[in-house]
Amino acid sequence: MMSAPNQRPLWDAWHEQVHGPDAEPVHREFVDAFLAELPHDAGPLLELGCGQGHDALYVASHGYFVHALDFSSVAIEQATRNLRAHPGSDVDFRQHDIAEALPFGDGAFDGIFSYLSLHYFDDSTTRSVFREIYRVARSGGVLAFCVKSVHDPLFGQGTLLGPDMYSLNGHVRHFFDPRYAIGLLDGWELVHIEERHGRYLDAATRSVLLQVIARKPASEGVIGAR
Ligand SMILES: C[S@@+](CC[C@H](N)C(=O)[O-])C[C@H]1O[C@@H](n2cnc3c(N)ncnc32)[C@H](O)[C@@H]1O
Repeated sequence: MMSAPNQRPLWDAWHEQVHGPDAEPVHREFVDAFLAELPHDAGPLLELGCGQGHDALYVASHGYFVHALDFSSVAIEQATRNLRAHPGSDVDFRQHDIAEALPFGDGAFDGIFSYLSLHYFDDSTTRSVFREIYRVARSGGVLAFCVKSVHDPLFGQGTLLGPDMYSLNGHVRHFFDPRYAIGLLDGWELVHIEERHGRYLDAATRSVLLQVIARKPASEGVIGAR
């Protein structure tokens, strides 16, 4: 198998050229479904792979404090600029590679969400990213993520890097099937899993996306304690 190329320069260049927000209904429906599942009086939320910050700002507009991470310095610069246009929004945009340990304590978040940012890693890294997500989620907290499905038209194109993982024109994608996604949710209760169709920003083809929502079971005595 070939090793995956470094993706950061590719994303920096992408963020120089492409500007959101993404108007595809499936995208807003995903974020709204996450908001609807949040526990009552939810505290801080975390977004992984926030890009230019449009989802974090939308979520913050509902009164939440959001930490939002992306490894692209260009994305974080643009997100910070977008934040200035939304005074009063409570978002902390931070440059961070989510393949590395998350810079937060255990149980820090009532909700974690990620739109099209968790399907870039090999199997072992993906599993470690999901262990970190579990660690920083509070009991009763919600995880919502959307990734490329194995039924996406790009699946199978380019150079095979590993199981269900391809590099096409330098762009690495690890496509998920529902069984794989569910296998990553050890310790979570599955709330919803669904395949959706949609285009992302300027994409030439429609994508097939897998949307997943899960809840970290509340520990005994925690329900109603906050
Ligand atoms: C398809 S874009 C989605 C951006 C945003 N979630 C949205 O919906 O507009 C994928 C994002 O994941 C980020 N990304 C890719 N790999 C990453 C990594 N290892 N750590 C942090 N961010 C990463 C990219 O910089 C990019 O902003």
